[in-house]
Amino acid sequence: MKILLIGSGGRETALAWKLSQSSRLDQLFIAPGNAGTAEYGNNIKIESNNLNALKEFALKEKIDLTVVGPEIPLSAGIVDIFKSNGLKIFGPVKKAAQLESSKIFSKNLLKKYKIPTAEYESFKDPERAKDYIKSVTLPLVVKADGLAAGKGVTVAMSEEEALSAVERIMVDKKFGKAGSKIVIEDYLEGEEATILAFCDGKNIKTMPAAQDHKAAYDGGKGPNTGGMGAYAPAPIVSEDVELKIKETIIEPTLRALNTEGIDFKGIIYFGLMISDDGARVLEYNVRFGDPEAQVILPLLETDLVDIMEAVIKGELAQIEIEWKDKKALCVVMASGGYPVEYETGKEITGIKEVERDKDSIVFQAGTRFEKAKLLTAGGRVLAVTALGNSFEEVISKAYAGVGKINFNDLYYRNDIGHKALE
Ligand code: AMP
Ligand code: GLY
Repeated sequence: MKILLIGSGGRETALAWKLSQSSRLDQLFIAPGNAGTAEYGNNIKIESNNLNALKEFALKEKIDLTVVGPEIPLSAGIVDIFKSNGLKIFGPVKKAAQLESSKIFSKNLLKKYKIPTAEYESFKDPERAKDYIKSVTLPLVVKADGLAAGKGVTVAMSEEEALSAVERIMVDKKFGKAGSKIVIEDYLEGEEATILAFCDGKNIKTMPAAQDHKAAYDGGKGPNTGGMGAYAPAPIVSEDVELKIKETIIEPTLRALNTEGIDFKGIIYFGLMISDDGARVLEYNVRFGDPEAQVILPLLETDLVDIMEAVIKGELAQIEIEWKDKKALCVVMASGGYPVEYETGKEITGIKEVERDKDSIVFQAGTRFEKAKLLTAGGRVLAVTALGNSFEEVISKAYAGVGKINFNDLYYRNDIGHKALE
């Protein structure tokens, strides 16, 4: 099979790594990829939002399967375009991708089908949003309706913070059209976890629960990032908790989509807040999480291409998905100053030394090759994933790997996985 993978982050490197192990694969193309994906296939110089060029490439190369990593092409309708050109592609159609591309759409769906989530109001007028903030108790969470790369959410502890979030999103238009509407919701306490699931429109099968570390600094402090590290399976999602989540959130979401006439084929990402009185949905995404994919894919035994084909054909019920009975943890190494301001172009060394250990993998993200040198090219530069039998083991192995990698002004969190030890 000829497979085209779209995207360029650590998630896509993990996907390329897993796809490259498939017995079904003959040739892998990655558009645009990074220096790490080039180890598993051919990088193609087409950006992931250039839908027309991607379609032309897939037609010309007679691609048998396209796999979409990021949300932007999904919400722009890449799956609809490929399908109408007779091309096989893994991911939800545009209508289904609204679960992620519009917070108002997903909150309305949650409310209509009584799926647990924070109480909320939506606004298209900033003055009404501000009046609302002045009339309720804090803390509150202010969210841009559209896609904002994880940066459109403000957890406001004070009225001032909430008002300035409205100003930033709706008046200064920091996220452009994505902020023309907002959701303001109640603040939820608890511990966060991510459950990813394959969905073929009729059946849904969950992956091991993961925990991301969204804040930039140790102890969950500082600005939100795309994610600074992750581990799986997350102990907070015990068997009992998972069963409850399936009954109250996962199955009801599939029923809601069916009732709404939405044929969801792909991955549903359930961002959850778990507390003593149950789990609530913080957000849906319609793709693998990053960095979550970097700990989940290394635990997957089954051939990913077989699963993706089963999803596309609506035959997910017939496939047995097997997982390794291991722990996985990854630590993201970022450019100093990420997620705000950072420099790129620094030489990276040490990756080969880390990969001498058979249970350690380096997934590159913001990297590029120039004149035979590997250079940093983004905020999240790479991540070290370790596999092992306990969280103690994978924490020490991942950080041993981190210690071997070097580039100027690097930054990482020191407390990835500490919650799993509690
Ligand atoms: P979202 O993109 O909606 O998942 O929000 C990003 C992050 O903001 C989440 O991962 C949480 O850490 C935080 N967050 C979002 N909604 C809430 C909420 N209602 N209560 C507390 N924290 C929240
Ligand atoms: N790690 C969070 C996300 O991928 O949205």
